[in-house]
Amino acid sequence: MLTDRKVGEERRFFLKKLFNFLFFLASISFTLLGLIVFKPSNPKRRDYIFYSVPEDRIPNEGVKKVDIKIENLSKSFKIFLVKKDNSLIAFSPACTHLGCFVNFDINSMEFVCPCHGGRYDIEGKAVAGPPKDPLNRLPIKIENKKVYVGIKI
Ligand code: FES
Repeated sequence: MLTDRKVGEERRFFLKKLFNFLFFLASISFTLLGLIVFKPSNPKRRDYIFYSVPEDRIPNEGVKKVDIKIENLSKSFKIFLVKKDNSLIAFSPACTHLGCFVNFDINSMEFVCPCHGGRYDIEGKAVAGPPKDPLNRLPIKIENKKVYVGIKI
């Protein structure tokens, strides 16, 4: 037969275990809630500003370098627009080796990096030199017959 003292000890033991379990559940709940509310941002994710490209800067065929000035940010950017087989591609000029700006060589029809001789074909694929990755393509959208290129800010 259980004495009152033994019953009291068992009740305290049970309440202590219950309290620990509830505390554990609350900790997990707050952690999950914190992750949902204060979701860590992806450092690779960056926002784009879509810039309307003037019609005369869009090549009929081939490559054009376009200077973009975004007045309200006081920033300017360079991009390459490539029109090939009726499709338009926008490239960042930054070499994927160490970031120097490439130029387009009309004779070889390649993008050439002045720093270490990296070369890319007209579709941005690395074809020679140290770069392994292709030139970064920029998003393009067409709205109301206007071309917009996404610039990372
Ligand atoms: S930075 Fe372009 S090849 Fe090295």
